[in-house]
Amino acid sequence: MEKSTSPREGFSSGLAVFLAALGSAVGLGNIWKFPYLTGANGGGAFLFVYFICVLFVGIPVLLCEWYVGRYTRRNAVGAFESLKPGSAWKGIGVMGVLASYLIMFFYTCVAGWVYFYCFKAFTGSFASVTANTVEELFGQVIGVGTAGKSFFSKDVLSPIFWQVIVLCVVGTGISMGVRSGIERITKTLMPLLFMLIIICDIRALTLPGAGEGIRFLFHIDFSQITPAVVLSALGLAFFKLSLAMGVMITYGSYFTEDVHLFKTAGKIAFSDTLVSMLAGIAIFPTVFSFGMEPSAGPGLLFMTIPLVFSKMPLGAFLLAAFFLLTSFAATTALLSLMEVPVAFWTEEFNISRKKATFLNCLFIGLVGVTAALSVDSSSLLGGYKLWGRGFFDFFDHLSSNIIMPLGGLLIAIFVGYFAKKDDVACELSNHGSLQNDTYVSFFNFVIRYVSPALLVIIFLNTIGVISF
Ligand code: PHE
Repeated sequence: MEKSTSPREGFSSGLAVFLAALGSAVGLGNIWKFPYLTGANGGGAFLFVYFICVLFVGIPVLLCEWYVGRYTRRNAVGAFESLKPGSAWKGIGVMGVLASYLIMFFYTCVAGWVYFYCFKAFTGSFASVTANTVEELFGQVIGVGTAGKSFFSKDVLSPIFWQVIVLCVVGTGISMGVRSGIERITKTLMPLLFMLIIICDIRALTLPGAGEGIRFLFHIDFSQITPAVVLSALGLAFFKLSLAMGVMITYGSYFTEDVHLFKTAGKIAFSDTLVSMLAGIAIFPTVFSFGMEPSAGPGLLFMTIPLVFSKMPLGAFLLAAFFLLTSFAATTALLSLMEVPVAFWTEEFNISRKKATFLNCLFIGLVGVTAALSVDSSSLLGGYKLWGRGFFDFFDHLSSNIIMPLGGLLIAIFVGYFAKKDDVACELSNHGSLQNDTYVSFFNFVIRYVSPALLVIIFLNTIGVISF
């Protein structure tokens, strides 16, 4: 296929490209997954393994997606259709669109909790919280004890309310377009996010006993690196870099021609990891300073943090800053996810952007409600199971553990073995204007042999054929 030159809206500059892609990478993963996994799995040693995974799988797959997107200038499905018309390869794109929906079903729900906590923090409601009240509050948010109640009762509707607000915010941003929506929002929010996180870090590091938290995060212990830990680092690298969801293909299709893809990928991986570390530095010294135990996931973000932050001087202000930055992170990640189906429906079916956004938000809201109401076994839909899992867990498991490694593997195989080598080299060197043959050869080697081998191992492990 000839490289597409059709006029299509895209990002305006290299900086816009960097901030939008970083906005996608930085998300809830940085705040509730990464710091804890690092601390609990060997600190500096885990970071080292994570970097290896990013270098040999994350960045190569990211480059494959950007190649597919920028070369074709189409959405995730259309891109494969223009590279290999009429072939089954567009299944990779279809899988990406499906996976982006699955992630949005539960990600909008968690983002809703973050918005709610942000609102609470700004209105000063955490000033006098205790261990019991935070637990009760989080219980309300996830609809504990709503089984058997009417759908229209207040206890059932309140977990959904903030999810709807999230969809309205993300939908508004997306309907404004790539440049006046996504670009403008990420350009504003990403620098603010960095500022807020640094403010939280300074406060955390000046607390008495902060050293223990830093030790938790950065101690180097290679003995904790087991094959299972390596796998979790690899899965995390995929989730962090928003891979195999159609996101980076779609964003790649809006990149300017002069963007140096290798350098941008390196900068994104580095900055995203930096945000995770900064988040860890804001969280763990604070948690340890108050003699609490660190935990992972929802418990850390929605119970431990409000509790410890509210106890320290300037706590109310810092808590508001912390939840504000978390809501920025979740929003910019969701913008990238929502752009996947919106680009697909507008380009493949000629639906206007506004209409596609509205219909997608409606659909995600309707299905996403099942995630919001199934987090706890005692919530309204907590008793329903899909293949043995509640809705929330099912959406998470299917997208992160099955579609992500499988999609990543297929993209690597497609670019490594089936795409035209010259086209790939031409795109990665910006039509020969960059003298980066060594990078390109290294990329070709990794994408053909190293990444697929590692991805096959993850995939077989996930589906239980081999286990560590
Ligand atoms: N990278 C985002 C995070 O860390 C999550 C995400 C995954 C966003 C896949 C888009 C696509 O939270």
